[in-house]
Amino acid sequence: MQTLKRLSAGVLAGTLLLSPLAIAQQAILEGERFHPQESAYGMVSTSHFLASEISRDVLAKGGNAVDAAVTAGFALAVTQPRSGNIGGGGFMLISDESSGEVIAIDYRETAPDSATETMFQDEDGNAVTERSRYTHLAAGVPGTVAGLALALEEYGTMSLADALAPAIRLAEDGFAVPLRFVKGLDDARERFEPWDTSMATFFKQDGSSYAVGDVFRQPALAATLKRIAEHGASEFYEGETARLIVAEMDKHGGLMTMEDLASYEPVLREPSHGTYRGYDVYAMSPPSSGGAHIVQMLNILEEYPIGEMGFGAADTMHVMAEAMKRAYADRSEFLGDTDFVDVPLAGITSKQYADELRDQITMDQATPSDTIKAGNPTAYESNETTHFSIADNNGLAVSNTYTINFSYGSGIVVEGAGFLLNNEMDDFSAKPGVPNAYGLIGGEANKVEPGKRMLSSMTPTIVKKDGSNFLVTGSPGGSRIITTTLQVLMNVIDHDMNIQSAVSAPRMHHQWLPDEIRVESGFSPDTLKLLEQRGHVISLEPAMGAAQSIVIDNDVFYGGADPRRSTSSAIGL
Ligand code: GLY
Repeated sequence: MQTLKRLSAGVLAGTLLLSPLAIAQQAILEGERFHPQESAYGMVSTSHFLASEISRDVLAKGGNAVDAAVTAGFALAVTQPRSGNIGGGGFMLISDESSGEVIAIDYRETAPDSATETMFQDEDGNAVTERSRYTHLAAGVPGTVAGLALALEEYGTMSLADALAPAIRLAEDGFAVPLRFVKGLDDARERFEPWDTSMATFFKQDGSSYAVGDVFRQPALAATLKRIAEHGASEFYEGETARLIVAEMDKHGGLMTMEDLASYEPVLREPSHGTYRGYDVYAMSPPSSGGAHIVQMLNILEEYPIGEMGFGAADTMHVMAEAMKRAYADRSEFLGDTDFVDVPLAGITSKQYADELRDQITMDQATPSDTIKAGNPTAYESNETTHFSIADNNGLAVSNTYTINFSYGSGIVVEGAGFLLNNEMDDFSAKPGVPNAYGLIGGEANKVEPGKRMLSSMTPTIVKKDGSNFLVTGSPGGSRIITTTLQVLMNVIDHDMNIQSAVSAPRMHHQWLPDEIRVESGFSPDTLKLLEQRGHVISLEPAMGAAQSIVIDNDVFYGGADPRRSTSSAIGL
């Protein structure tokens, strides 16, 4: 798969004894434009170099991939407040080669107990998107602290306090802010302005912006993290932090109560599983739609000679768009929280159902989305987010995606607690048939219900080859998460790209409605013209996703940092 000229693992092992941190290096790839990081001992790929360094240090000190992942998760809550979080939720996949087990931790937010099906509709039954996005009603009960603590307790080796220590230090001492950080806050200023605490957290006392290189400190967040370190995860759900969240809700008309927080539970789930050209693909099961639909699209695409057709070829992009449309049509109809609704998962992920959908695809003509309806998978039933990937050299790999939904979530910082509230309630269907912020249509299966988890697209994914961890990937990007992850996987398996090339390559996306192929810059205009001739509408869009990824091949770890977010945050051990 990887055509590398590299030092042998044996030589590297000798070096490790002398200096564990000295051997991570960029792979020497003959004739290739992009180069992954390379190591024989483990790899971390997050979207922020400080979090990656901290996480790599955990591996260097003998911690496992779960220790490193939880530490990174808390560090990102400090260094990347736009998406790293303790006020949101997410999903973590853990693959343990020695037991053969792949488990999924669902720490998605839940709707508060007094949430109702029509809470985001006006008296005429029209969806009120402002309410589900920028108010205290937008917040689901956060799952991150409970989810990361559960991961550590079940699969890690270090204490929660130790995992929190670097994040506390970063929040207390601060860090110098780069341009992206400053620009992100400036772009979101309007969202923060109605909330004094948000302004005081993210801007200087006189309301002016931080400049590049200024040190940014978060004392209230540091205090919250310290309380959690001292009293455990339950502090967030039943202690002072819970009281601060509820006070914030009471002051501004939110729904969340002490009981909602105290009853929050992360859940261990079976991941969605499929196969693609002999590889085993594990990805997040509901309440994410990601796993079901990545498997569904791969099943449709498996019968096409994608590698021969070529990356970025009109034929390849055509069949990918056709597969994407059909998957997203099904998503709108069938997907929701399986604790509340029956989802025909076995049907959606079956090879037979994929055959049926593939039969509808013709090579010379796009199928208009308005003629595509959700299929009948039940016939086959048998029974601004951030992503990081971490792998250690004891066969443990972690793929984690977590979010507060939009960049900076609802824009509302909890007074006295220093963290942003998510606006994940917008991922429910405010009204069946009305699109959410990502243009995704939801159905009855994803209506608001008390205690229910809103449907997600987050797709942390681990691909295994002959029983060994092979590819660890996933991405932020709202509705584009599933197709971004799909393309990283296809770039590696079908197009034989190294992992840095695979994450850097231009991306496309189709989500059934709107009926258009969104493309990043970088595809050939001739190709796009050929697609238009087949009836596709092409829309040039800003960069999609940020797929921090790892490939493990022949006992060597290759890290790919997605240049859309960072070029230096894949770090080997
Ligand atoms: N909030 C985006 C998602 O979970 O899909």
